[in-house]
Amino acid sequence: MFSLSDTDLDTCILGCGDGPASFNVELTHRGGHAVSVDPIYQFSAMEIQERINATYDVILEQTRKNQDEFVWHHIKTVEELGYVRMEAMAQFLEDYPNGGERYVTGKLPSLPFSDHEFDLALCSHFLFLYSEQHSVEFHVQSIQELCRVASEVRVFPLLELGAKRSRHLDCVIKQLNENGYEWAIEQVDYEFQKGGNTMLCVQSSHKALHSEGNAVALHCRG
Ligand SMILES: C[S@@+](CC[C@H](N)C(=O)[O-])C[C@H]1O[C@@H](n2cnc3c(N)ncnc32)[C@H](O)[C@@H]1O
Repeated sequence: MFSLSDTDLDTCILGCGDGPASFNVELTHRGGHAVSVDPIYQFSAMEIQERINATYDVILEQTRKNQDEFVWHHIKTVEELGYVRMEAMAQFLEDYPNGGERYVTGKLPSLPFSDHEFDLALCSHFLFLYSEQHSVEFHVQSIQELCRVASEVRVFPLLELGAKRSRHLDCVIKQLNENGYEWAIEQVDYEFQKGGNTMLCVQSSHKALHSEGNAVALHCRG
């Protein structure tokens, strides 16, 4: 999702809106340094487990209904998707009770971290995906907040639900331009939602962004 290089994985990474995902524990086992922030970390492992169990069938049924919105190359069936997701959540649930400061309760657009605490902030399947629920202002504030705590921010995907390009993307980019942020949209290898193979990279103003090579076409009205 984020074209993470070995160099990236050796830096101090914030996963924002990580939820019950396995990125944090996998990077920790690899010897890396990750902190995850999400509002669901106010709950215990048992409470999160209950929520996962209660929503599992509903989510798979929705995915089954909308199968044509997804690319079934790597994951071949809805059942395999369920298995892969449950494996990742099981890894999270095993790690979470002993994760200590690696799991922090908090939410955008205001995060409980100091300026420049992280090298890289990653946000997958939250910003842009819920464009119907969250305004342009929320997105801009959130991305700027992520830039406050990290030198570089990557957001994936740039689609909203229904596998449509986010209604907010152009306006968010326009405002980032006006506020002096360096940004690029880059293609990534991962694609599960059809057309969801690009990420937005934004840098805190003091760092220059080098996006040649795999930068893709932009639709920026700014
Ligand atoms: C669809 S899940 C994505 C989880 C994970 N990033 C992934 O890609 O599998 C969206 C996550 O965003 C979290 N979330 C909701 N509101 C948030 C906010 N205001 N700030 C940060 N995360 C939020 C939810 O709790 C949930 O874990």
